[in-house]
Amino acid sequence: MIELGRDRLNGGEVFIDDSRARAILICGKRGSGKSYTMGVFLEELMRRDDALVIALDPMRNFHTMVLPNTEQERLLWDWNMVAEGVPVRLLVPGDPYRRYGQEIVKAFEERGIEVVPLRLNPGDLPPDGWLDLFGIDIATPMGLALYRTVSKLQRSHEKFFSVQDIIAEIYSDPLIRETSIQALVLRLETAANDWDLFSTRYHDLLEVFQIGVVNVVDLGVLEVGRVSLRNLVAAVLVRDLFRKRREARLQEELGIPTDVPKIWLAIDEAQEFVPAGKSALAKEPLIQWVKEGRQPGLSLIIASQQPGAIDKEVLSQCDLILCHKVTALEDVEAINKLSHDYMSHELRHYIRQLDRTGEAVVVDDFQEAVTIVQVRPRKSKHGGTEV
Ligand SMILES: Nc1ncnc2c1ncn2[C@@H]1O[C@H](COP(=O)(O)OP(=O)(O)OP(=O)(O)O)[C@@H](O)[C@H]1O
Ligand SMILES: [Mg+2]
Repeated sequence: MIELGRDRLNGGEVFIDDSRARAILICGKRGSGKSYTMGVFLEELMRRDDALVIALDPMRNFHTMVLPNTEQERLLWDWNMVAEGVPVRLLVPGDPYRRYGQEIVKAFEERGIEVVPLRLNPGDLPPDGWLDLFGIDIATPMGLALYRTVSKLQRSHEKFFSVQDIIAEIYSDPLIRETSIQALVLRLETAANDWDLFSTRYHDLLEVFQIGVVNVVDLGVLEVGRVSLRNLVAAVLVRDLFRKRREARLQEELGIPTDVPKIWLAIDEAQEFVPAGKSALAKEPLIQWVKEGRQPGLSLIIASQQPGAIDKEVLSQCDLILCHKVTALEDVEAINKLSHDYMSHELRHYIRQLDRTGEAVVVDDFQEAVTIVQVRPRKSKHGGTEV
């Protein structure tokens, strides 16, 4: 059980059932406590020894969890709690020394954070993902050539192929025109060399992540550019983990032992990855994660300031909504649409009653209940504080 906080009405402790996979939405306006609450979930999940806990962290809010929350010791005292950090492993897309510089890597390590490079297997991006990545239309000769090549490699190289293998394959295909070859190779060379994201040999992601720590993926090292490398990382991770866990589930059902754990995936600023009304590389794999992930034990926690900017399919799958203070009319309306029959009032009625930071309306489909909760203080240091 996740210990979330106290019921504002009667002071009773509020627990969230985490024995089954869950899809959780945390929303609220700027500074209302979304990332902080996400951190409470991550702290609570550290009690489990059967699940990987991964946070995709574009805002760099979560590496500080390794430190105790000394800033709110008074508050913790009121709650009968003590400040305490949790183990953190920091996964850095690319080479950590290149991304951060030596001094920062050293500072992380001095805090007890293990800094680990994270590299993507090119084969985990499907052929149409490659087209989206480069913004190439399948109806063009170049698009068709790339699609054909990646599909071919995926069939012939079950375990691994590199970006250089894609390039070699393009050169050796007599059906691809010279102009397409040049344009594609230019893009692929950029992907292979400049982005520093793809691996040149097979990496099993399950060996990169660890149980018993918060696996923080620092997406903040990647710029928000025309090519969304953050989405690329999210897409590849989500697809690979989904596939592995789904296979493991089948094995478990057949009585075959597996070592692929259940997974809790937390994504802050989720509108970047599952936007409403536009495409994003990670969107389709994340929709599959929430829609088909329950049975294999894949949970999702997303946080966003604008629920209206999150894909409807994802929203409709959420079985727990945690809404902090919201005032913008369009956001209230977007959340209000998530009201359920079992509630005695619409969501906007409850939202109006929120006034303090850390308070939230919690709508739990498992319990079919609505509660106004004061989320408990964090034991570990929150990283999103404004200066
Ligand atoms: N449950 C809580 N108990 C005590 N303090 C809290 C609580 N929740 C939030 N706060 C305080 O509110 C501040 C803002 O919270 P947080 O960074 O989570 O906001 P946010 O909703 O993620 O904002 P943004 O949209 O800017 O990312 C925190 O720095 C913390 O001091
Ligand atoms: Mg935040």
